[in-house]
Amino acid sequence: MKDRLIVALDTDDGEDIDWLSGTLMDVVRWFKMGFQAFSALGMEAFPWFEQNGHKTFVDLKFHDIPNTVARDVGMMTKHGANMINMHASGGLMMMKAARASADDAVYEANIPRPILLGVTILTSIEETSFRLSFASARTLSEQVVYLAQLAQEAGLDGVVASPLEIEPIRKACGDNFLIVTPGIRPEWAETGDQRRITTPAEAINRGADYIVVGRPIIEAEDPLEAAEMILDEMREA
Ligand code: C5P
Repeated sequence: MKDRLIVALDTDDGEDIDWLSGTLMDVVRWFKMGFQAFSALGMEAFPWFEQNGHKTFVDLKFHDIPNTVARDVGMMTKHGANMINMHASGGLMMMKAARASADDAVYEANIPRPILLGVTILTSIEETSFRLSFASARTLSEQVVYLAQLAQEAGLDGVVASPLEIEPIRKACGDNFLIVTPGIRPEWAETGDQRRITTPAEAINRGADYIVVGRPIIEAEDPLEAAEMILDEMREA
C-alpha cells in the first residue's frame, strides 16, 4: 500500500517539504508536486521532492496546444518526473504529442518513462456545476469515461478521476489502465472543497491503483500518524 498512496505536498515552503519528506520517509513512497511548490522552487523542487528516495508526481495539469504541452512534458521527463498529468480535455493530438515527447526524452536521456495521466473532470465538480460550466450533452460520468477512452487512445497510461467513477472507467478501458483518485477523505477528516469523494478504504475496494491525499495528512497535527491511519485503512480494505 506504501506504493499506492500519493501525498500531495501542496505547500510553497521548501522547509515544509523537507520536514514532511523526512517525517513520512518510512511510510510514503510518492509525493505530488503542485503549482505551489513548483512556482516557489522551480526545477529546484525536484531534489527537495526526491530526497529520501521519494518518487515525484508532477501535477501541473498541462492544458495547451500540442507543441507547448509536448515541450512541457519532455522537460519534466528529463528532470526526473515519475508521473506527469495533463487535462484530457486538451484533446487527442495534445496527448499524443505529450506521449511522443516523453518517449523522445526517455530515449535521449536513457531514463525510465514517467507514468502519463489524463485529468478527466476535477473531483471538486459535481453534476450540477458540471452541467452549468460545461453545457455538455453527456452526464458527468459519461464525460469522464469519454475522456478516459481518449487518453487511452492517445497512448497515456491512465487517468486522474474520482473514486466514484472507477467502475465505468474500468469497464471502458480495461484492467491495464491506471486510475489515480484524489477526492479521498477518511471519516475523521474535513471535506473542504472536494465533492466527489470516498474514504481511502472505499477507493481501494472500488479498484483505485493509487490514491492522492493532501490536507488530511499535511495539515494533520501529526502527519505521520495520519498517513499510518490511512495506510492501515487501505490494507484492511
Ligand atoms: O488536500 P486534498 O486531499 O484535497 O488534495 C488533493 C490533491 O489532488 C490537490 O493537490 C488537488 O490539486 C489534486 N487533484 C484533485 N482533483 C483532481 C486532480 C488533482 O483534487 N481531479
